[in-house]
Amino acid sequence: MRTHLCGKLNRADVDQIVCLAGWVLNRRDHGGVIFIDLRDRSGRIQVVADPDIPASFSVADSARNEYVLSVRGRVRVRPEGTANEGLATGQIEVMAEEIKLLSRSEPLPFQMDEEEIGESTRLKYRFLDLRRPGMQSTIRARHRIVSNLRQFLEQREFVEIETPVLTRSTPEGARDYLVPSRTHPGEFFALPQSPQLFKQLLMVSGFERYFQIARCFRDEDLRADRQPEFTQLDIEMSFVDEQEVMNLVEQLVRDCFRNVIHVELPDPLPRMSYHEAVARYGTDRPDLRIDLELTELTDLMRDVEFKVFSGPANDAKSRVAALRVPGGNRLTRAQIDQYTEFVGQYGARGLAYIKVNDASLGRSGLQSAILKFLPDEVLSGILERTGAKTGDLILFGADRAAVVNDALGALRLEVGAAMGLVDPGWKPLWVVDFPLVEWDEPGHRWQALHHPFTSPKPGHQALLESDPGQVFSRAYDMVLNGTEIGGGSIRIHDPVLQEKILKVLGIGADEARVKFGFLLEGLKYGAPPHGGIAFGIDRLAAMMCGVESIRDVIAFPKTQKASCLLTEAPNQVGGRQLRDLGLQLKKQRQ
Ligand code: AMO
Ligand code: AMP
Repeated sequence: MRTHLCGKLNRADVDQIVCLAGWVLNRRDHGGVIFIDLRDRSGRIQVVADPDIPASFSVADSARNEYVLSVRGRVRVRPEGTANEGLATGQIEVMAEEIKLLSRSEPLPFQMDEEEIGESTRLKYRFLDLRRPGMQSTIRARHRIVSNLRQFLEQREFVEIETPVLTRSTPEGARDYLVPSRTHPGEFFALPQSPQLFKQLLMVSGFERYFQIARCFRDEDLRADRQPEFTQLDIEMSFVDEQEVMNLVEQLVRDCFRNVIHVELPDPLPRMSYHEAVARYGTDRPDLRIDLELTELTDLMRDVEFKVFSGPANDAKSRVAALRVPGGNRLTRAQIDQYTEFVGQYGARGLAYIKVNDASLGRSGLQSAILKFLPDEVLSGILERTGAKTGDLILFGADRAAVVNDALGALRLEVGAAMGLVDPGWKPLWVVDFPLVEWDEPGHRWQALHHPFTSPKPGHQALLESDPGQVFSRAYDMVLNGTEIGGGSIRIHDPVLQEKILKVLGIGADEARVKFGFLLEGLKYGAPPHGGIAFGIDRLAAMMCGVESIRDVIAFPKTQKASCLLTEAPNQVGGRQLRDLGLQLKKQRQ
């Protein structure tokens, strides 16, 4: 149908007869002559229709934006003074000899070059939204990323294997999406939250090196970086320790950044322990582009008169910490009140602060409602530990450690962004030495921090019964600019140890058999030591493309409410279908 692509034509093609096809980007009537910018996947070219060729001219005349045309014509240099330097094909144009109408378009719900289109309109007309240059570019970039990852792994003898989507619940901690079975009335498949159990079984089967670009399904509260269905690059390897997995996937990610966006990531990636990350940044996914840190003050506050500080300072589960904001002294009372409200969302009951008007003057250089409760040596301790200078602001959190970490961790990002303290560029790191389990207060039991198949650190097993909270796991997370882009671990391959861990987690033998008996069974038949990782492809692609939301790198994403505005899924189904599935709906109260 065509001999050339619009955007690929150049001066070398002058005088050639070419056949093109594409969409009308715009049409201009210059009194007698019609100009059409014709667009295809490669770019655009100006087509000129002259009334001397009436059949073609009338097609050009009736063409509207986004009509689909084919054009046969001769390439020529644009007349003197009409070149468009800003355009790759701006020096030339195609003098049409024949124009055919291939398809009409109704008037569009938005223009292709419109900037502020509401997201619900974009999602409803996603097929048009995807036609726009920005979306074309991110979706194509995503393809290059996935293709790069795949090539890297193929070159290293990894085998791509598909695992079932209709399966049994997988323990990643979110709610399952369920699919009723017609052939087994009253029974349900669960969509996989990850291929975790299958990839471990593939190691038992002897594949040794597996990967999959796998769709995962999790029914959880959605945010800009979470979708109910998302894509993982899932990897598993046999006969490896954590260093080997980390080294290999580090190379994989570095290679991808280099090839796709020409960015050189550090080699090796820095590593930080979970405890250090939480102590210094309040989170296990620190954004190291922001050079602000939490300062530990718990020990300093044990004996102060100020109960807000001394209470938590004397409680084993609590913490007192400070966040120094360089130059923050200039924040107004109203701004600080806003930050107080902000930390309130994370459960903080206040946000005490000290303004450092003159660091050389000691107490008299400071300004704060809480000065009177703090002795001189505590004040100088605060200044020294935070490294506060004249003009700074020191913000305090005193509460249960989890509240202080969440509140000051989030405040660090908020203040960092507001004060322009976010370095441009890429700050990846590994977070390691995670605790194996954490105490789940409402559930009153230990919970796996990663998943129940993560191996404890060698040497830590003795603590499993006496003090499980002190046991480290062999897990690792890759964090980039404050986002967890991947996580994995060395697994348990010894069925006896696996049983022991399940016991710590309060998962009895019967429950374990029902939930993942097939994995436990597999481990009994010569399971090799193995480990792996999964990367969130959507998150990785969004970051590499520099877009805020993972929805912008997913062709057909769901809304924050987990629905699809294009297909209007989920939707009600007919009584017949329900009957076939053995289901009956309760009347929904309005
Ligand atoms: P995990 O649950 O950490 O590990 O998931 C791996 C990575 O997947 C991405 N991710 C998501 N992306 C978009 N939307 C979501 N709802 C979502 N949830 C997770 C994150 C995350 O780092 N089976 C283990 C991996 C393993 O142990 O090998 C697992 O799934 O980037
Ligand atoms: P109050 O004595 O309650 O008026 O509090 C004095 C200051 O301490 C105010 O600035 C409060 O915002 C702050 N504050 C109160 N509770 C906390 C807390 N848990 N952590 C940090 N600051 C707090």
